Amino acid sequence: MKLTKVAVTGGAGYVGSALVPHLVVHGYDVKVIDLFLYGEKPLEGVRATRVRGDIRDEALLQREFRGMDAVIHLACVSNDPSFELNPELGKSINYDCFPGLLRAVRDGGVRRFVYASSSSVYGVREEPEVREDSPCTPLTDYSKFKLLCEELLREADLEATWAIARPSTVCGYAPRMRLDLVVNILTIHALVRKAITVFGGSQLRPNINIEDMVEAYRVLLEAPPELIDRQTFNIGYENYSVSRLAEIVRAAVGDPQVTVAVKPSDDLRSYHVNSDRFARVLGFAPRRTIEDAVRSIVAAWREGRFQDPLTNPLYHNIRLMQQADLGGRTTSPR
Ligand SMILES: NC(=O)c1ccc[n+]([C@@H]2O[C@H](COP(=O)([O-])OP(=O)(O)OC[C@H]3O[C@@H](n4cnc5c(N)ncnc54)[C@H](O)[C@@H]3O)[C@@H](O)[C@H]2O)c1
Repeated sequence: MKLTKVAVTGGAGYVGSALVPHLVVHGYDVKVIDLFLYGEKPLEGVRATRVRGDIRDEALLQREFRGMDAVIHLACVSNDPSFELNPELGKSINYDCFPGLLRAVRDGGVRRFVYASSSSVYGVREEPEVREDSPCTPLTDYSKFKLLCEELLREADLEATWAIARPSTVCGYAPRMRLDLVVNILTIHALVRKAITVFGGSQLRPNINIEDMVEAYRVLLEAPPELIDRQTFNIGYENYSVSRLAEIVRAAVGDPQVTVAVKPSDDLRSYHVNSDRFARVLGFAPRRTIEDAVRSIVAAWREGRFQDPLTNPLYHNIRLMQQADLGGRTTSPR
């Protein structure tokens, strides 16, 4: 039986703002549970139920998950710098509340649960390709707590079918735009400053176009339970060095004036993620390229969809988190 009622935590974030309309178009009845830290505008005109709430509020999750067929859990403090800004707050959102969230999944009779982990759980690996069974050596607290939630999920007493997604870095335009992710940063710098600065350059970074990412989540909703239950999937496509990404961006932006400069970096993360398993088990292979992602951002920029793209906290998680007061009240924009 099709799972039609889907709750998406963090559904107003970057991935969520593309995923929620995608699910609605495919006939799902979607409920977004979010603090709307980046405002409600990204979901304007989308026929989904909105619940303004904190995933640390277990009573709210108990109430809102009840009667849902599926939950996709995206909400979190979603990058290293934002997490490090206030590690205690980050841990409270990314880890401490996870057992309560799983209890609400169990008690609500939810039949499918998808957890958004991250390919950053692998850290720096020597092997040429990291697969789902490769050892994980997360380098930061953000990645460490992603992995610890995976472990909690594996130990949980859940009847629901569940799966863990380990996405690569997502790229491309979404209504709630993030301009703090590698391809997106390079693109906006090429457009606004006509100059790209690459830090390091040789590190390999795995990428996934946001349109493929949202389709992958839908595939996880629709797959027969026996194919995905208790499984972990890398979800990535093109793995390139940061220098190569810069060249791809420069070419796709198509402005000969754009320059590329290289500076030293101490960010050592470098890994080549292999996502064959997702294609093999589920018959889904990503098909949108990094060039497609760059072009989607260029088009949005030309349409005037970004205001002060280099400094606006709406597009840069660390800047917004510096302003937000998540002790209770939030300063989220309307
Ligand atoms: N974007 C990527 O490249 C990427 C890569 C790998 C994994 N992921 C994972 O995918 C998920 C979505 O990432 P994103 O880029 O859309 O992040 P995002 O920061 O754009 O969105 C996160 C959303 O969660 C909400 N949120 C934060 N704390 C909350 C709380 N306590 N209660 C309720 N809502 C809260 C925010 O308001 C925001 O709408 C995250 O779990 C992230 O770790 C993202």
